[in-house]
This record gives sequence, structure tokens and C-alpha cells, in this order.
Amino acid sequence: MNPITEQPVLKVSHLTVRYGSGCPCCGTSLEKNRCRKCGTVWAANDVSLEVYPGEILGIVGESGSGKSTLMKSLYFDLEPTEGTAYLRDYQDGAKDIWQASAAEKRRIRNCLMGMVYQNPLLGLRMEYSAAANIAEKIIAAGSRDAGAMTERAQDLLSAVEILTSRMAEAPKNFSGGMQQRVQISKALANNPSLLLLDEVTTGLDISVQAKVLDLIRKIKARYGISILLVSHDLAVIRMLADRTVVMLDGKIVESGLTDQVLEDPQHAYTQQLVHSML
Ligand SMILES: Nc1ncnc2c1ncn2[C@@H]1O[C@H](COP(=O)(O)OP(=O)(O)O)[C@@H](O)[C@H]1O
Ligand SMILES: [Mg+2]
Ligand SMILES: [Zn+2]
Repeated sequence: MNPITEQPVLKVSHLTVRYGSGCPCCGTSLEKNRCRKCGTVWAANDVSLEVYPGEILGIVGESGSGKSTLMKSLYFDLEPTEGTAYLRDYQDGAKDIWQASAAEKRRIRNCLMGMVYQNPLLGLRMEYSAAANIAEKIIAAGSRDAGAMTERAQDLLSAVEILTSRMAEAPKNFSGGMQQRVQISKALANNPSLLLLDEVTTGLDISVQAKVLDLIRKIKARYGISILLVSHDLAVIRMLADRTVVMLDGKIVESGLTDQVLEDPQHAYTQQLVHSML
């Protein structure tokens, strides 16, 4: 991987998500992410980052730091106040995805990105079978070939280590770890070039968490997919991320190779995070 010469899979510039109208004092009156004068919340405040082919970029930060705001903006779950985002696979990286039409946004969501939420209820239909969850995503991308869909569902479920004998079962009968694995397989259904993972192991038992993290590593190797991995837990980031971005109060306070960030944290907040992990 050579980040200097390679075209990024995703390039986000100056993402800002604001709740409230803002005031001239916001710049100097912020307490955490909220303006003391006008009460506006700056959930994401001038966030810029790039994800390169085949890498895992980790985003770490405490609760409320803006991690999900970034992910939801990318997946069109919320509309940013300002900023641009370019995907290599959308118009060759020449058009801002946030300026795309509603139909184009649907196609980007269905085909170019996959999203896995912390809460499986947001990503899965609990009453449908695991295979039908995957089929739904494939149908959304325009396919109608039932045979090919079943085959694809089989492949994807085996890639996430779910027995094909269970593909007709509904996720509501699965354990938390299995539900996350079904979510991952659904997110991969249309071969996206970017996977968005938002706290996917938070709340799982440690042993289950380790298995899901190991699976993410395998998925990356098998599909060569780029991953944006969000967690409040630096241990998760350490295990998987090639590079790491640290967020605090809606802003990026530090970024670099994960090893570097861990060995020689520059920002006081990162130092605190690293020390509390040791
Ligand atoms: N609808 C909203 N109105 C006001 N503030 C919001 C709204 N949604 C989120 N926020 C605030 O945005 C900030 C970032 O939230 P979020 O991105 O969910 O953080 P994280 O995922 O890092 O825990 C938090 O301070 C949160 O309270
Ligand atoms: Mg969050
Ligand atoms: Zn203000």
C-alpha cells in the first residue's frame, strides 16, 4: 500500500454537522461540542480523512465525539451541514456523493458501500431468514436471478462462518455475535468497495467480540475491501486498524499509523486513552 500515489477509496473534506443555527461566537465559545452562547451542537466539526484501498482506518473517541455522525453522514442517514465526500467508485471520484440525486444515493448505498450498525435491529429484518436478508440487498441492486441469489447467500454466510443449514432461520433466533455476522454478510452482498463498521462488537462478550474481530480481519483479506472501523475502544482499534484517527468533541485531534499513535501519542486526550488501556 502506498498512500502517497494511490487514489483513495474515500476522501472526506471539511465535514461539519451542526444542530442549531450557529452564532458568530461559536468558534470561541465551545464547551466540548456545544456553544455556550447559542446552544448549537457541532456534532462533527471540520472532519477530513481518507481511506486507501485495502486498508482499515480506525476512528476512536469517547461517546459523543462524533463518530456515528461521520458514519451516518457517509451512509446518507443524515444530511451534513457542510463538507464533501468523494468515492473512487462513484464517477471516478469526481463528484461529491452528498450532491448526488436521491436515486444515485440509493445506488451508492446499495452497491458501493456496506454498513454494519452496533444495533442489529437497524441493519437486519429480524423476522426474515438470514438468506432473505441478503437477497433483499441484492434485489435492491436490481438483480432478479433467484438461483444466483441463493448461491451468493450461501457464499456470504459461509464467509462469515454461519452454517448453510441455518440460512433459512431468522436472525431473531441467533446470538448477538451471529446477528453481527449476518449484518456483515448482508453489507457485503453487492461487493461494495467500502465497509462502514460502527461499534459492531460493542456490547458483545469478550470471547464473542474476539471472534467477530478476527472475522473482520479475514473478510478484509478475502475481499480486499477497505474498511472504516469506528469504536470507543482503543483495544479494538489496536487489533485491526492500519491507521487511526482520534476524535474528540466533533474534531479530529490526532491521526497516524496505529502503531505510531499507540507508541507515541501526541495529543493529551490520546495519551490518556493509551494509558488507560495499558
Ligand atoms: N439530533 C441531535 N440534536 C442535537 N445533538 C445531537 C443530535 N444527534 C446527535 N447529537 C450530538 O452529536 C454529538 C455526536 O454524537 P455521535 O456522533 O452519536 O457520537 P458518537 O458516535 O461518537 O458517540 C453528541 O454530542 C450528540 O449528543
Ligand atoms: Mg456512536
Ligand atoms: Zn454559537
